[in-house]
Amino acid sequence: MAELDRYLVDHRDRFEGELCELLRIASVSTDGQHTAEMRQAAEWVAAQFRGLGLDTELLETSGSPVVYAQSAPVAGAPVVLVYGHYDVQPPDPWDEWVSPPFEPTRRDGNLYARGATDDKGQMFTHIKSAEAWLRTAGRLPVQLKFLIEGEEEIGSRGITELIGRQAERLACNVVVISDSSQFGPGQPAITYGLKGLAYFELQLTGPKQDLHSGTFGGAVANPANCLTRMLASLINDVGRVQVPGFYDEVVPLSDRERQQFAALPFDESVFMYRLEVEGLTGERGYTTLERRWARPTFDINGIWGGYQGAGAKTVLPARAGAKFSFRLVPDQDPDKIRGALRAHLEALRPLGIQMELIDMHGARGIVVPLDSPFMQAAAAAIEQGFGRPPVFIREGGSIPIVNVFHERLGADTLLLGWGQDDDNTHSPNEKFSLADFHRGIRTSAYLWQALGKIAVEARG
Ligand code: BES
Ligand code: MN
Ligand code: MN
Repeated sequence: MAELDRYLVDHRDRFEGELCELLRIASVSTDGQHTAEMRQAAEWVAAQFRGLGLDTELLETSGSPVVYAQSAPVAGAPVVLVYGHYDVQPPDPWDEWVSPPFEPTRRDGNLYARGATDDKGQMFTHIKSAEAWLRTAGRLPVQLKFLIEGEEEIGSRGITELIGRQAERLACNVVVISDSSQFGPGQPAITYGLKGLAYFELQLTGPKQDLHSGTFGGAVANPANCLTRMLASLINDVGRVQVPGFYDEVVPLSDRERQQFAALPFDESVFMYRLEVEGLTGERGYTTLERRWARPTFDINGIWGGYQGAGAKTVLPARAGAKFSFRLVPDQDPDKIRGALRAHLEALRPLGIQMELIDMHGARGIVVPLDSPFMQAAAAAIEQGFGRPPVFIREGGSIPIVNVFHERLGADTLLLGWGQDDDNTHSPNEKFSLADFHRGIRTSAYLWQALGKIAVEARG
């Protein structure tokens, strides 16, 4: 590996420069306004693969294209599917960025840009590790199949359809994703659980137009009043979701897992200090890590209605609405929750209010097995690359496609996050530590080696 290690050191600056090129492309998937940039980012990623001599294709979907590339088969060694996403969340609020979101900037050992860690920077580590193998050894120790999509941040619809159609071609023994975090600075982690998601928009409509709240208030139903009652009814004051049947399928935390969480060096006061909050809250009877990683939650993500301008306007608004979501854990079913939620809200709807409940997306939570040879190989590669063995954690974020890989391809996923909790994903001043970027590349290179030593049966 000495030659490979040297290659990685010699090309550090170029790797960073190339990542900056990708980060300059504003591939925001959320609002449908960036189709040109989506394609540009996909083409940029495809050009990387073509440069390595991989079989590369842009697979069209109902939405943004998926980049697919594969290296040569390696007899007897595993086929590894590497997933990542080139789409990013919108950068707003723009004025809170110290340097502009699409002008990647180095500061205090970090690279600041939208997508730096989620997921362009993390995804790119696997491309550069493949490059290092191909340029030094001339081959990879495993067959890699790269699948890089552009709709992760909006629910992965296109790629989900595609995996159904292309299951044969995507056949693999294990999936690798770097789109999560380490436990903390200097403490790498393997994530073995992610939450699912059930996301909704609720629109309430009352009278045909805004009314004088003195003349009509108290007699005509107010959509904003109704909205707050409905939303407040979804959770009680000890943090329990009130949708009937919501907890029926929840897999409880085992005593063993609770002990493992408790044994991790998590400092609640540091956590609060960093977020500038005075205290923490959540479901009664659970610790902060348990709430964040392994218990379902409810959050309002956006809320509107009525007068928002300066001064006081006495108005009874004609409309109000909210976006809200539940994070789910195994074995909760987003479809069942949607039905129960609709009935629950419908029962609270007074005469004079129209309700529309829009299902934005849903995904199940997952927990992946810890006792596989792939997991052991990943732990060994991380120890080698980061100089410290990983701890095993769950996280509260969601990567809906992980379920699809399990169901359609029968493959489990290794979630190897190189990021940090304070990387500001989805918020202003997103960053990625450049040291972690390079450690991620090195670890990825060692991972191909370690996975290559696992014997698998030939696929027929
Ligand atoms: N990379 C995140 C998922 C993630 C976040 C994993 C934190 C582990 C820790 C991903 O890009 C993401 O943001 N997913 C969305 C999914 C949704 C839009 C369907 C999420 O979790 O909100
Ligand atoms: Mn991501
Ligand atoms: Mn994200």
